[in-house]
Order: sequence, then structure tokens, then C-alpha cells
Amino acid sequence: MGLHVVILAAGKGTRMRSDKPKVLHEIAGKPMLHYVIETAQALHADQIHVVHGHGGDQVKQVSADYPVNWVEQAQQKGTGHAVQQAMPHVPDNAGVLVLYGDVPLTQSASLQPLIDAANEGDLALLTSVLDDATGYGRIVRNANDLVRAIVEHKDAADDELAIREINTGMLAAPAGRLRDWLSRINDDNAQGELYLTDIVGLAVADGVAVQAAHPQHAWEGDGVNSRQDQARLERIFQGLLADQLMADGVTVADPARLDIRGNLRCGRDVFLDVNTLFLGDVELGDGVSIGPNTIIDNCRVADGVHIRENCVLEKSIIGKDCTIGPFSRVRPESDLAANVHLGNFVELKKAKVAEGSKINHLSYVGDSIVGRDVNIGAGTITCNYDGANKHLTEIGDDVFVGSDTQLVAPVKVGKGVTIGAGTTVTRDIPDDLLCISRVPQKHIKGWQRPRKKGN
Ligand code: UD1
Ligand code: CA
Repeated sequence: MGLHVVILAAGKGTRMRSDKPKVLHEIAGKPMLHYVIETAQALHADQIHVVHGHGGDQVKQVSADYPVNWVEQAQQKGTGHAVQQAMPHVPDNAGVLVLYGDVPLTQSASLQPLIDAANEGDLALLTSVLDDATGYGRIVRNANDLVRAIVEHKDAADDELAIREINTGMLAAPAGRLRDWLSRINDDNAQGELYLTDIVGLAVADGVAVQAAHPQHAWEGDGVNSRQDQARLERIFQGLLADQLMADGVTVADPARLDIRGNLRCGRDVFLDVNTLFLGDVELGDGVSIGPNTIIDNCRVADGVHIRENCVLEKSIIGKDCTIGPFSRVRPESDLAANVHLGNFVELKKAKVAEGSKINHLSYVGDSIVGRDVNIGAGTITCNYDGANKHLTEIGDDVFVGSDTQLVAPVKVGKGVTIGAGTTVTRDIPDDLLCISRVPQKHIKGWQRPRKKGN
């Protein structure tokens, strides 16, 4: 039997106090809706229907890479009404699983039992037992402990309000039966809405078994209605990622102070210090250590690299055994070969640096190709920008660049060259010589320092 997943994502999310549709708010840098779509994909859904309403165009645009069927619910008349909108696209012989765009962390393993039950013709609910059930639909059971109905908080009598088993909202049912039940619900209730939950009473009346399964973890059923809910789920999700890394052999100095917004792949014996943030696709080789307060955005870092505290690395490649930082900034399209050293207050941009070269203090190297075993002295600047265009600086192997050198690009420094401190290089330098441009030093005798007036 095929599986159709219906994701409800039409709600406004008033309590987020945001211009952005709720389901586009992010957990770990990814819109919540995308987690739910990916869960549906993991369950091998034949088709995924997303019911959109508020901010629908924006939701569709941001989700354009996902192969889903968009269904509009122009007016939000309740969860039952929302599912009704998708049903014309679902064949009678399918199983239907209903998920929520603002409940991002449900795991496919917790949903599979619902799908199995629907495939057997039953109605299956995902329920949780909470200490405080305020606001949720309550699961009402009969004397034999069988599910009899769901009663919404606003419609519940006092004895029903005491029930702690709640409806997460997620459910699965055979499509033909679901279609029939949905045609029979009405809005005769406290909120004047078409409640999806009313299908439970109808199923019971039809003699259809209603199963209830709990998720493996209570938070799998948690939705996001506020920024507080969002922050709480963010920490839960980050905790899961940290746990997985540690299970895979990574040392995490403090799992509460690690953030991964993307995919982080680690080799053996990697060390991640506190307040490290990884964005996009990051790959760390064996034995890599990342110092505190460091941000790594879409980089490939080879084995044995030590990145010290307070570094920012973006869209770059770091070769084996490099040491970087503290306080280095590596901007996009940089490519370091093995054993390169970058020190404090060094900025690289689109710089290719060959093996064994060192740029240790206070330098800017941009739009550059640096050879092997080059030593770039403190305060060296590549003047790569003339106000209109960027130009290339090429530095040959084994060059020694004295401190406080400016290299006015485009310019080429031959191999083996020594550049004296304080030089402004404006012409290409042939191999193996000393280049120096310096005003001769003067000594003025009898010089009197100015004195403060009135003394
Ligand atoms: C719903 C359930 C309740 C359950 C709770 C779990 C019903 C009637 N009640 O209540 O039993 O305990 O969720 O959080 O189903 N939505 C639409 N279109 C609509 C209405 C809602 O897409 O017309 C979407 C919302 O965007 C939201 C979800 O459905 O993502 C739930 O809607 P909400 O109004 O929050 O339902 P609750 O009253 O919380
Ligand atoms: Ca809700």
C-alpha cells in the first residue's frame, strides 16, 4: 500500500511575532518544514502534500528544491479542513500520515508503527503522557483502556482536563476511511473549527480499531509556537548532534557549547573546544583540534590541523598539519597546502599558499599565489585593489618578505628573493636578489624636542 504524507503548514504562528511564516523559522539553520519533509522522505512516501496558507509563496520559494505537492488552504478553518484540502490528491488505497510543519524533530522510527497500523486498516495516533497537558487535545479511553475520542482542551469537561495523555496531532489512517470520516466532521465546537481529532470518535463508532503509540522521546511530539519553544528544540537538536559526534569518537569539550548548522564530518580523535560553530558542509580530518570561539563555514580541513582560539574560516581548504590562529581570518577561496602557519591578526582572501609557508603576524594576503617555504613578515599587505579591480600577487618559492612590506598588485616576486623591511614593491622582482625601497636614514644632531607652552 502506498504512503501519502500530508504536512500541515498553513498556520500563522502569531506567537512568533514575526513577518516570516512559522514553518520557515529555523532549527540549526534549516527551516522547520524541511525537517518534516525529510522525515516524510525517509519514510519513502509516494507523495508528500504540504498544506500552505499564511506566507505560502515564501514557503514554496524557500522549499523549491523539495519534490512536494503544494496544496493551498486559503482560510484556516481547522486541522480537519486542512487535511480535507489534500485528500483529492490521495487515492483510496493509500495510507495517509499527517505531520506538522512546526513539529520538526519527529523521528521516522516513531512514525513507522502508525503507518503499519494504517496499512492494517486501523487509525493510529501518536500520543504522549505529559505532566502538564494544558492546551492539548486529551486522549479519552474507555474502561477497557481503548481510545474512545480526542477532546480538545477548550471543549473538555473537568474530568477530561485531568487526563495527562495528549494528542501530538500526528496520526495515520487508510485514505478511503479518512476521506469518509472527514466528510462527516462539523464545526460544532468551542472554536468553530473542523477538528481533525473528531475522526477518532467516528472511527470508534464505525468499529475501526484506534491504536495509540508513543514516540521514542517525548520531545519528538513538541511543536514550536514561540521563540522559547524554538530555542528549547534547538538545544535538544544540538544535543543529539553532539551525542552522535561523541559516539563516533570526537571529544567535545562541552556539548552545550557546540553548534552545528549543517553537516560536520569528523575523522578520528578530533577535539572540539567550547563555543565552536560549524556552518554548511565541514569536513575535519584525523587528529584535528579546533580552539574555542572558532567559526568554520564550509571548509575542508585535512589531518593533523590545529586551529587555535578565535578564528573564522570560510569556504576554504586547509592542508595537512597546518596551524592557524589565534585570531586568524581565512576568507573564501583560500587554499592552504600542508604545514602552512597562519598567526594572529592575519587575513587571507582567495590566497593559495604552498607547503611550509608562514604568515605569522598582522598581514593581509588577498588574491595571491604564495610559493613553498615563504616567510611573510609582520604587517605585510598585498595591495590587491586599485579602487576598481582586483589584481594578483605572485610570490615564488623560498621568498623572505621583510616586515611592513606592501606588494602593489599586479606584481610578481621571483623565487629566492629577499625583500627588506618597509619596502613598497611596485615592479616585478627577478629571482634570487635583494629588493629594498627605503628612504635613507638621517641623523640630525642637536635636535630639540618641542616643549609644552607655558612651562
Ligand atoms: C491540535 C490538535 C490537538 C493537539 C495539538 C498538538 C486539533 C483539532 N487539535 O490543536 O488535539 O493536542 O494540535 O499541538 O487538531 N493548521 C493548518 N490549518 C488550519 C489549522 C491548523 O494548517 O486550518 C496547522 C497549524 O499551522 C499547526 C497545526 O495545524 O501547525 C496545529 O494547529 P493548531 O491550531 O495549533 O492546533 P491546536 O489547537 O494546537
Ligand atoms: Ca498547536
